[in-house]
Amino acid sequence: LRVAVLASGRGSNLQALVDARDAGDLAIDIVGVFSDRAEAPVLERARRAGIRATSLAPAGFARRAAFDAALFAAVDHVQPHLIVCAGYMRLISSAAVRRHLGRMINIHPSLLPQYPGLDTHARALADGATEHGASVHFVIPALDAGPVIAQARVPVLPDDDAAALSQRVLAREHALLVRSVALIADGRIDCDGGHVRLDRSPL
Ligand code: GRF
Repeated sequence: LRVAVLASGRGSNLQALVDARDAGDLAIDIVGVFSDRAEAPVLERARRAGIRATSLAPAGFARRAAFDAALFAAVDHVQPHLIVCAGYMRLISSAAVRRHLGRMINIHPSLLPQYPGLDTHARALADGATEHGASVHFVIPALDAGPVIAQARVPVLPDDDAAALSQRVLAREHALLVRSVALIADGRIDCDGGHVRLDRSPL
Protein backbone atom coordinates (compact mmCIF):
# COMPACT_ATOMS: atom_id res chain seq x y z
CA LEU A 1 0.00 0.00 0.00
CA ARG A 2 1.45 3.36 -1.02
CA VAL A 3 0.95 5.84 1.82
CA ALA A 4 1.42 9.63 1.87
CA VAL A 5 1.52 11.42 5.22
CA LEU A 6 0.40 15.00 5.89
CA ALA A 7 1.74 16.54 9.09
CA SER A 8 2.41 19.96 10.61
CA GLY A 9 4.54 19.31 13.67
CA ARG A 10 6.52 16.89 15.77
CA GLY A 11 5.85 13.77 13.73
CA SER A 12 5.69 11.11 16.42
CA ASN A 13 2.79 9.46 14.61
CA LEU A 14 4.80 9.39 11.37
CA GLN A 15 7.63 7.84 13.39
CA ALA A 16 5.27 5.12 14.63
CA LEU A 17 4.40 4.23 11.03
CA VAL A 18 8.08 4.21 10.05
CA ASP A 19 9.02 2.03 13.03
CA ALA A 20 6.20 -0.46 12.37
CA ARG A 21 7.18 -0.63 8.72
CA ASP A 22 10.84 -1.17 9.63
CA ALA A 23 9.88 -3.89 12.11
CA GLY A 24 7.99 -5.69 9.36
CA ASP A 25 4.68 -5.18 11.14
CA LEU A 26 3.12 -2.93 8.53
CA ALA A 27 3.14 -3.66 4.82
CA ILE A 28 3.25 -0.10 3.54
CA ASP A 29 5.48 2.02 1.40
CA ILE A 30 5.62 5.61 2.73
CA VAL A 31 5.93 7.47 -0.55
CA GLY A 32 6.01 11.04 0.73
CA VAL A 33 5.59 13.33 3.70
CA PHE A 34 3.97 16.72 3.15
CA SER A 35 3.82 19.64 5.54
CA ASP A 36 2.36 23.12 5.61
CA ARG A 37 5.23 24.24 7.88
CA ALA A 38 8.80 24.37 6.60
CA GLU A 39 10.20 24.21 10.15
CA ALA A 40 8.15 21.18 11.24
CA PRO A 41 10.34 18.49 12.87
CA VAL A 42 8.34 15.86 10.96
CA LEU A 43 10.25 16.81 7.80
CA GLU A 44 13.59 15.93 9.35
CA ARG A 45 12.19 12.67 10.72
CA ALA A 46 11.01 11.77 7.25
CA ARG A 47 14.34 12.53 5.63
CA ARG A 48 16.17 10.51 8.26
CA ALA A 49 13.92 7.59 7.35
CA GLY A 50 14.73 8.05 3.68
CA ILE A 51 11.32 9.41 2.79
CA ARG A 52 10.92 12.34 0.44
CA ALA A 53 9.64 15.31 2.47
CA THR A 54 8.00 18.36 0.96
CA SER A 55 6.74 21.54 2.56
CA LEU A 56 4.52 24.16 1.05
CA ALA A 57 3.77 27.47 2.77
CA PRO A 58 0.12 28.55 2.78
CA ALA A 59 1.25 32.19 2.94
CA GLY A 60 2.01 32.15 -0.78
CA PHE A 61 -1.63 31.45 -1.65
CA ALA A 62 -4.59 33.81 -1.56
CA ARG A 63 -7.19 31.13 -0.86
CA ARG A 64 -7.38 27.81 0.93
CA ALA A 65 -8.59 26.08 -2.23
CA ALA A 66 -5.57 27.30 -4.21
CA PHE A 67 -3.17 26.10 -1.51
CA ASP A 68 -4.90 22.72 -1.37
CA ALA A 69 -4.84 22.41 -5.14
CA ALA A 70 -1.06 22.87 -5.11
CA LEU A 71 -0.49 20.66 -2.08
CA PHE A 72 -2.64 17.82 -3.35
CA ALA A 73 -1.11 18.07 -6.81
CA ALA A 74 2.20 17.21 -5.11
CA VAL A 75 0.55 14.49 -3.02
CA ASP A 76 -1.23 12.97 -6.02
CA HIS A 77 2.04 12.99 -7.91
CA VAL A 78 3.43 10.26 -5.63
CA GLN A 79 0.28 8.20 -6.35
CA PRO A 80 -0.71 7.20 -2.83
CA HIS A 81 -3.43 4.63 -2.21
CA LEU A 82 -3.92 6.17 1.21
CA ILE A 83 -3.31 9.66 2.65
CA VAL A 84 -2.75 9.78 6.42
CA CYS A 85 -3.25 13.10 8.23
CA ALA A 86 -1.03 12.70 11.29
CA GLY A 87 -1.07 15.96 13.17
CA TYR A 88 -1.91 17.97 10.06
CA MET A 89 -3.31 21.14 11.59
CA ARG A 90 -4.91 22.86 8.61
CA LEU A 91 -8.49 22.57 7.47
CA ILE A 92 -8.66 20.89 4.09
CA SER A 93 -11.04 22.39 1.54
CA SER A 94 -14.03 20.22 0.75
CA ALA A 95 -13.10 19.94 -2.92
CA ALA A 96 -9.77 18.35 -1.99
CA VAL A 97 -11.46 16.09 0.55
CA ARG A 98 -14.10 14.99 -1.96
CA ARG A 99 -11.46 14.11 -4.52
CA HIS A 100 -9.81 11.79 -1.98
CA LEU A 101 -12.91 10.47 -0.24
CA GLY A 102 -12.37 7.01 1.18
CA ARG A 103 -8.61 7.33 0.68
CA MET A 104 -7.77 9.83 3.42
CA ILE A 105 -7.73 9.22 7.18
CA ASN A 106 -6.96 11.40 10.18
CA ILE A 107 -5.88 10.81 13.76
CA HIS A 108 -7.69 13.05 16.20
CA PRO A 109 -7.02 13.32 19.94
CA SER A 110 -10.52 12.74 21.32
CA LEU A 111 -13.16 10.07 21.48
CA LEU A 112 -15.12 11.31 18.48
CA PRO A 113 -17.86 12.45 18.11
CA GLN A 114 -16.85 14.22 21.31
CA TYR A 115 -14.55 17.24 20.92
CA PRO A 116 -13.97 17.76 17.22
CA GLY A 117 -11.60 20.66 16.49
CA LEU A 118 -8.81 22.11 18.63
CA ASP A 119 -7.83 21.99 22.32
CA THR A 120 -9.48 18.65 22.91
CA HIS A 121 -7.58 17.83 26.11
CA ALA A 122 -8.36 21.14 27.81
CA ARG A 123 -12.00 20.87 26.79
CA ALA A 124 -12.32 17.34 28.15
CA LEU A 125 -10.79 18.47 31.45
CA ALA A 126 -13.03 21.53 31.64
CA ASP A 127 -16.05 19.27 31.21
CA GLY A 128 -14.92 16.97 34.01
CA ALA A 129 -14.69 14.02 31.61
CA THR A 130 -13.59 10.77 33.25
CA GLU A 131 -12.50 9.20 29.99
CA HIS A 132 -10.68 10.58 26.97
CA GLY A 133 -8.73 9.19 24.05
CA ALA A 134 -8.03 9.28 20.36
CA SER A 135 -9.82 8.28 17.17
CA VAL A 136 -8.74 7.41 13.66
CA HIS A 137 -11.41 8.21 11.09
CA PHE A 138 -11.94 8.62 7.38
CA VAL A 139 -11.89 12.28 6.35
CA ILE A 140 -15.09 13.82 5.03
CA PRO A 141 -15.71 17.52 4.33
CA ALA A 142 -17.22 18.13 7.80
CA LEU A 143 -14.42 18.61 10.36
CA ASP A 144 -13.50 15.48 12.35
CA ALA A 145 -16.89 13.99 11.52
CA GLY A 146 -16.04 11.08 9.20
CA PRO A 147 -16.60 7.40 9.97
CA VAL A 148 -14.43 6.14 12.82
CA ILE A 149 -12.09 3.21 12.16
CA ALA A 150 -10.76 2.66 15.68
CA GLN A 151 -10.41 4.41 19.03
CA ALA A 152 -8.14 4.19 22.07
CA ARG A 153 -9.44 5.15 25.53
CA VAL A 154 -7.54 6.44 28.53
CA PRO A 155 -8.77 7.45 31.98
CA VAL A 156 -8.69 11.09 33.05
CA LEU A 157 -6.86 11.21 36.40
CA PRO A 158 -7.64 13.65 39.21
CA ASP A 159 -4.44 15.69 38.93
CA ASP A 160 -4.34 15.87 35.15
CA ASP A 161 -3.59 19.04 33.29
CA ALA A 162 -3.84 19.27 29.50
CA ALA A 163 -0.15 18.37 29.07
CA ALA A 164 -0.37 15.24 31.22
CA LEU A 165 -3.58 14.12 29.57
CA SER A 166 -2.27 14.74 26.06
CA GLN A 167 0.83 12.66 26.89
CA ARG A 168 -1.33 9.76 28.06
CA VAL A 169 -3.41 9.97 24.88
CA LEU A 170 -0.37 10.32 22.60
CA ALA A 171 1.16 7.19 24.12
CA ARG A 172 -1.86 5.31 22.77
CA GLU A 173 -2.12 7.12 19.45
CA HIS A 174 0.88 5.46 17.88
CA ALA A 175 -0.37 1.87 18.10
CA LEU A 176 -3.87 3.06 17.22
CA LEU A 177 -2.67 4.65 14.00
CA VAL A 178 -0.51 1.66 13.08
CA ARG A 179 -3.43 -0.69 13.70
CA SER A 180 -5.80 1.44 11.63
CA VAL A 181 -3.40 1.67 8.69
CA ALA A 182 -2.83 -2.09 8.94
CA LEU A 183 -6.58 -2.69 8.66
CA ILE A 184 -6.58 -0.75 5.41
CA ALA A 185 -3.32 -2.27 4.12
CA ASP A 186 -4.74 -5.73 4.80
CA GLY A 187 -7.95 -4.88 2.94
CA ARG A 188 -10.04 -5.47 6.06
CA ILE A 189 -11.68 -2.07 5.95
CA ASP A 190 -12.56 0.39 3.28
CA CYS A 191 -14.76 3.39 2.84
CA ASP A 192 -17.06 3.95 -0.10
CA GLY A 193 -18.72 7.35 -0.32
CA GLY A 194 -18.31 7.94 3.39
CA HIS A 195 -19.74 4.54 4.35
CA VAL A 196 -17.25 2.23 6.02
CA ARG A 197 -17.18 -1.46 5.27
CA LEU A 198 -15.46 -3.62 7.85
CA ASP A 199 -15.11 -7.30 7.08
CA ARG A 200 -14.42 -8.16 10.72
CA SER A 201 -14.31 -6.30 13.99
CA PRO A 202 -10.94 -4.59 14.43
CA LEU A 203 -11.06 -5.11 18.18
C1 GRF B 1 -1.51 14.18 17.83
O1 GRF B 1 -1.98 14.36 19.12
C2 GRF B 1 -2.65 14.03 16.86
O2 GRF B 1 -3.73 13.32 17.38
C3 GRF B 1 -3.03 15.47 16.66
O3 GRF B 1 -1.81 16.15 16.59
C4 GRF B 1 -0.83 15.44 17.32
C5 GRF B 1 0.30 15.14 16.39
O4 GRF B 1 1.41 14.60 17.05
N1 GRF B 1 -3.90 15.62 15.53
P1 GRF B 1 2.68 14.15 16.22
O5 GRF B 1 3.08 15.33 15.34
O6 GRF B 1 2.31 12.95 15.42
O7 GRF B 1 3.74 13.85 17.23
